Amino acid sequence: MAVMVENKEEFYQEILGQTKALIIGESDIIANMANISALLFERLDKVNWVGFYRLIDDELVLGPFQGKVACIRIPLSHGVCGTSAATGNIQRIADVHQFDGHIACDATSNAELVLPLKKSGKVIAVLDIDSTVFNRFDAEDELGLSNIITLFEEHLANESET
Ligand code: SME
Repeated sequence: MAVMVENKEEFYQEILGQTKALIIGESDIIANMANISALLFERLDKVNWVGFYRLIDDELVLGPFQGKVACIRIPLSHGVCGTSAATGNIQRIADVHQFDGHIACDATSNAELVLPLKKSGKVIAVLDIDSTVFNRFDAEDELGLSNIITLFEEHLANESET
């Protein structure tokens, strides 16, 4: 019997539905970040760290995450996370050792995907996902995860989360 392998599009649709179910009706942003981190850490293969950094007074401050202990404060524009927060753009890095200024919280991380989270058009946090596998994240991962971030942003806009 053929084994059905779920494709990435279906996989991310499923995660999107689960994210919606987790955050619906909940207005506490920390609680929602915590559950989104836990969901992604549980479901994504070959990922060793997932979490949020919140932008507070021009500095990224460690928020809810899953994985090993991490750097607590990252100045804006520093590292992959700081670059994403400063530019407002997604950073999809195949080999973090080639990224000028990469901050190695965990020496085993080799690839990284960072997505900015915006409220009223301004970056308020980033979602950081690390992998020990070079080139772990492709365009489909980026799209699937950016749809999850868009859902969270719509929720933030509607729920006046704090
Ligand atoms: N590598 C990140 C720092 C955060 S840790 O990976 C959890 C960076 O360069 O911004």
